[in-house]
Amino acid sequence: MTNVELGLPALPAPPYPEEVRARLAEDAAELIGRYPQARSALLPLLHLVQAEEGFVSPTGIRFCAEQLDLTTAEVTAVATFYTMYRRRPAGKYHVGVCTNTLCAVLGGDQIFAELQEHLGVGNNETTEDGEISIEHIECNAACDYAPVVMVNWEFFDDQTPQSARRLVDDLRAGREVRPTRGARLCGFKETARILAGFPDERPGANDESGAGGAPSLAGLRLARGEVLPGTGGTKVVAPRHEGTGTGTGTGGGTEAHGTGTGTGSEAHGAGQEGTEA
Ligand code: FES
Repeated sequence: MTNVELGLPALPAPPYPEEVRARLAEDAAELIGRYPQARSALLPLLHLVQAEEGFVSPTGIRFCAEQLDLTTAEVTAVATFYTMYRRRPAGKYHVGVCTNTLCAVLGGDQIFAELQEHLGVGNNETTEDGEISIEHIECNAACDYAPVVMVNWEFFDDQTPQSARRLVDDLRAGREVRPTRGARLCGFKETARILAGFPDERPGANDESGAGGAPSLAGLRLARGEVLPGTGGTKVVAPRHEGTGTGTGTGGGTEAHGTGTGTGSEAHGAGQEGTEA
């Protein structure tokens, strides 16, 4: 009979070494104290244990269950539902390639295929040097910058197979890589600790979060009934004081989106050139 891997952790799991357990228990108490009910802290606690080992291990699941007075089955159910919790160790840089519909048709499928070949690893696998893990991910609500790649959950917009290969090469070589938007990168474990709810201690990092880019703001302006350059004077929606007509909606929206994406590509292209120097 063929073994089927369900991705569920083997239990019972060993506990953390006492020193690790004591340190994590202190962090967990701080997180739990932020909620009226302890079990509400499960998601941050899963990020906390992920920050320790680079994934949510059976030991991490046992720890969360003990801290929150839950069963390991309950914790496992949550940890295996959300895809941000990994069941295998991530690389220092976890690269997610969006292969959801819009990114896929604009090149995401090709990027994912070429990155797997370039790195010599498959989906959810890590390079031998431990630097890069790769995963295909679902829509990241950045469709106006498609196709997008994420590294430790920071955005790299308007990618191509060539720019994505250069990106992972730069990461492996230790060259500085800046996301298109958001704070500068840190390692996967450090990112997980920030996601658990602990402050990003790097000077200036909290001021580096990006604002809305041109393509996103173009959508906002169209929704307000403005006419954008290059759209042939088409309004997606009428301004509120002119009524709520929708007759010109779909065509105008498509044209305007094309304009917005083009602007983003140009900006991103310049940024990627910078990493090559
Ligand atoms: S389809 Fe890729 S971000 Fe939405």
